[in-house]
Amino acid sequence: MSVELWAQPAMMSDPAPEQMMEHILKRVGDIPPLPVVATKILSMVNDPDLEVDDLVSVIQKDQGLTAKILRVSNSAFFGLCRTITTVKEAVVTLGLNNIRNQVIALCARSMLETRAEGYALEAGGLWEHSLGTAFCAERLSSTLGLKGTADQVFVGGLLHDIGKSILSYYVATRFQPILRLVDGEGLTFVEAETQELGFDHAEIGARVALRWNLPEALVDMIAHHHGPSRESKNRTQVCIVHVADAIASMLGLGLGVGGLENRIDDEAIAHLGVDDQVVQDVMVHMSSIGDLRAHIGIN
Ligand SMILES: [Fe+2]
Ligand SMILES: [Fe+2]
Repeated sequence: MSVELWAQPAMMSDPAPEQMMEHILKRVGDIPPLPVVATKILSMVNDPDLEVDDLVSVIQKDQGLTAKILRVSNSAFFGLCRTITTVKEAVVTLGLNNIRNQVIALCARSMLETRAEGYALEAGGLWEHSLGTAFCAERLSSTLGLKGTADQVFVGGLLHDIGKSILSYYVATRFQPILRLVDGEGLTFVEAETQELGFDHAEIGARVALRWNLPEALVDMIAHHHGPSRESKNRTQVCIVHVADAIASMLGLGLGVGGLENRIDDEAIAHLGVDDQVVQDVMVHMSSIGDLRAHIGIN
């Protein structure tokens, strides 16, 4: 079920930018497609009328996923006094949202858990940042009364930096020139990435999302999370992920390098009607969650 991380790229000694772009694009093309079950569940996220039985039957078709869901449901975290033996029981006991979020996290975890050296993120750092952004996005959405978007933005938050797991190696090879652009010319880390590599991680992430046939809203949230004012059909969701990303960074969740150089887009703040009180609410909520990995039941 899990998407194994594709092989590390062959070492390139100081490659020319064009050669690097070619390499990066080829690498995106080499990513194995998401398992059918994962694609199906990700498109179900967009359906407000999702039925328990539909989700159960999709999960049950995948033995590996079924076993993981049962393991997570019976983990000490949920502290249930009886044993959950079927997927349906798990969904009914723990709730549709809970199970759906766990399934998606299980799909994305293997890609997000590895070390992202180009962003100075140790193993687990990107995963922590992604989970943090997902929980902040979900809370922002409900605090702002945009409940219909909460599930979508949770997944958007989880996957927004998926491009970092690909670009990390290339960013590492250009780390010094990128830092010079940030320190010397006042570019954001994302702008410096584009200048040095020809792409930023958001664009590469969106290409991965397209390759996985993810729903358009998810592609948009990944593609525009650093430029939320760009024209997009899913601007509200994009703005939520953008602001949630900033709050997760302010909380120091998987910060790495570049996290604090990100600028918060004033138009996104205005579009959503976010004020200090809303940010405070999200921060208090996050501190009540504590350990993010434990909160989603996947340790
Ligand atoms: Fe990002
Ligand atoms: Fe991020």
